[in-house]
Amino acid sequence: MSDIQSLIAQMTLEEKAALCTGASAWTTTPIPRLGVPQLLVSDGPHGIRRVADVHSMTIKSLPATCFPTASSLASSWDVALLHEMGQALAEEAIARDVDVILGPGANMKRSPLCGRNFEYFAEDPYLAGTMAAALIEGIQSQGVGTSLKHFAANNQEYERFSIDAQVDERALREIYLPAFEMAVTKAKPWTVMCSYNRINGTFGSEHRQLLTDILKNEWGFEGFVVSDWGAVHNRVAALRAGLDLEMPGPKPTRVDGVIEAVRNGDLDEAVLDEAVRRILTIVCRAAETPKGGDFDIAAHHALARKISAETMVLLKNNGILPLRDPQHIAVIGRAAMEAHFQGGGSSHINPTQVDVPFNELQKLAGNAELSFAAGYPKDDSRDPVLIEQAVTIAQTADVALLYIALPSYKESEGYDRPDMDLTAQQVALIQAVTAVQPNTVVILNNGAPVATRAWIGGTAAVLEAWMMGQAGGGAIADVLFGRVNPSGKLAETYPLRLADTPAHLNFPGENGVVRYGEGLFIGYRYYDTKELPVQFPFGHGLSYTTFAYDNMRVSDEEFKDVYGITVSVDVTNSGAVAGQEIVQVYVHDRESRLIRPYKELKGFAKVSLQPGETK
Ligand code: GLC
Repeated sequence: MSDIQSLIAQMTLEEKAALCTGASAWTTTPIPRLGVPQLLVSDGPHGIRRVADVHSMTIKSLPATCFPTASSLASSWDVALLHEMGQALAEEAIARDVDVILGPGANMKRSPLCGRNFEYFAEDPYLAGTMAAALIEGIQSQGVGTSLKHFAANNQEYERFSIDAQVDERALREIYLPAFEMAVTKAKPWTVMCSYNRINGTFGSEHRQLLTDILKNEWGFEGFVVSDWGAVHNRVAALRAGLDLEMPGPKPTRVDGVIEAVRNGDLDEAVLDEAVRRILTIVCRAAETPKGGDFDIAAHHALARKISAETMVLLKNNGILPLRDPQHIAVIGRAAMEAHFQGGGSSHINPTQVDVPFNELQKLAGNAELSFAAGYPKDDSRDPVLIEQAVTIAQTADVALLYIALPSYKESEGYDRPDMDLTAQQVALIQAVTAVQPNTVVILNNGAPVATRAWIGGTAAVLEAWMMGQAGGGAIADVLFGRVNPSGKLAETYPLRLADTPAHLNFPGENGVVRYGEGLFIGYRYYDTKELPVQFPFGHGLSYTTFAYDNMRVSDEEFKDVYGITVSVDVTNSGAVAGQEIVQVYVHDRESRLIRPYKELKGFAKVSLQPGETK
């Protein structure tokens, strides 16, 4: 009998029931009599949000490195980079006595309006699954667990605790589950977190088909399923469905309810034992990793800067970038002084330090003179004076840098965006500055695409810096001055108009139901199949160099027991500076009897090339 089984054999019914419900907001129930320790979990996907008091749900947490968020990370398409970030996250978790990090989030970006798109990777399941697996493997390589979330179909914030996501079987299997399947089968997360919402009428916390038939039986998931915080409605039904741990605790009445259900025959004790076995397996595994110590704040900050620079996407560039020794730089935008580097909600980090974008620019600008204007207020009000001040410094400068951050009241966990618009003041500001200064660069801080049509025409360049993490200010300076050649590519389409988006007719739902009427056709799958123009397509991103593709070869071969196809291509850096290119492979099915998206991403590789080099 394994030591887990022997432990279960010694446990009382009360101890088993107690183990399946949290003892506090962030810990499981220890069983000192049997030497079973507590398990401590903590948000979040891009930084450790460790609250000092495990009974508190306060937003205040201990200092930690705030790395770029998932929508940034996915734009790097860099598996090794995410693995490296995962290792750093684990180091910080260990220093903070955290056993399991509650992330990554792998939900699809069904609509750019979803308030948590900054916490999710992509509109494509293959890219999202690959990125999630890389982060999980990086974290777990250090003996710290993860919680792949939110399983499943949590693609909006509107009524997230109750909305019923009506998703057809193909859309579920081909779009909304594959990123979870890839991450579970490839990286084996210690835990999976169920979603709040209903899926086809059943709450995620009671969804037997998802939690047991698919996740545990089909995919072979061996860890435990934890509820999202407060997602359990009926504890006994949840246990039967395969929901092993309810969080948060303490919930003594729930524990008593489980005990009662076993005693009166309403719940088979074997079902409880299976949940206990899964939880104990992870509790014991976590206990093998010694906790405590510290982490190198400066080294992690430098890593956050490297990662942030790798995630930035150069959307537009008429050649003005990289900046070539400008003498007078007009720096415009509140976000140049107050970095906008993360989103609101459960992922909110208390950063160890934060780069001031203006100061980081100054450090690299040599003897250039920098002027500053706030450009827009903190709130949604209009202030023409701020625009006048910006125009004044812009018109006499060699170049104007506009730091435009989407305000947090527009984008956060807990609510969706009403539109994709920047604030009216920000649009007016960009229009006014570009009217007097053709050398205007817009730097964006946002978690999901924004509307660009009203202002992009007059710009010389647009750099998407995303929710860039605490070192993003330095990373922006690195990219603007060419210390880093941007290599990011979009993981979410930049649509021309909200009305063009796939979910537009079915978002965010009504009368408690949201129909995924677009089926398989989310993101580029929709725009390409409908032949709809977009502002910037999925997979788009410019570089300071150029790349040539030659000699593409396709060979079909048997990989062990799987028929596969290898696509090879020679990529040459045909420009003057070193750079990185992301080769993407899409499939198109010409003969399918069922409708298929025009193309689907099935492979990618990122290569670094010196000028003239070929790989
Ligand atoms: C929140 C989020 C989830 C988070 C959990 C704990 O509601 O949905 O992502 O990990 O609760 O804060």
